[in-house]
Amino acid sequence: MVRVLFVCLGNICRSPTAEGVFRKLVEQEGLLELIEIDSAGTHAYHIGEAPDARAQQAAARRGIDLSQLRGRKATASDIEAFDYVLAMDRDNYENLLAISPDHLSSRVRLFLEYASNRPEDEVPDPYFGGSGGFERVLDMVEEAAEGLLADIRRQHDF
Ligand code: 4NP
Repeated sequence: MVRVLFVCLGNICRSPTAEGVFRKLVEQEGLLELIEIDSAGTHAYHIGEAPDARAQQAAARRGIDLSQLRGRKATASDIEAFDYVLAMDRDNYENLLAISPDHLSSRVRLFLEYASNRPEDEVPDPYFGGSGGFERVLDMVEEAAEGLLADIRRQHDF
């Protein structure tokens, strides 16, 4: 079993989007029994909440249902439990490193490392912007999700 955790600030926009996009891809590839997928936030603002309505609508237009997801806060035990702990931006990355046991810090990465054709290394926070920001998040996340799955296949031989 390979375990993947997506992390943003609030766990209501970017990381649930990444969770939904990656789960759809993994399902299409018939690998759901081999890859566990979850998401969390570095802050506690939205614990227990469903994803932002704009994130849900944008994902739904691409055939992805985020409605059942609920916000939670990332903890040090997540870094023990998950093989890949993928931050949406540098702030999330630094906050994760701050709670990571030292010997596990290499599990924490910027998600866009896996979108090798993109110049950006952060998924911009869409929360305070317009609906275009959510489409942009989806485009970036879809590309990184492909790269991540390719990396997992290479590393784990499936
Ligand atoms: P996310 O977006 O980190 O992609 O879930 C945000 C959600 C909520 C807030 C900021 C960003 N907030 O300030 O409440």
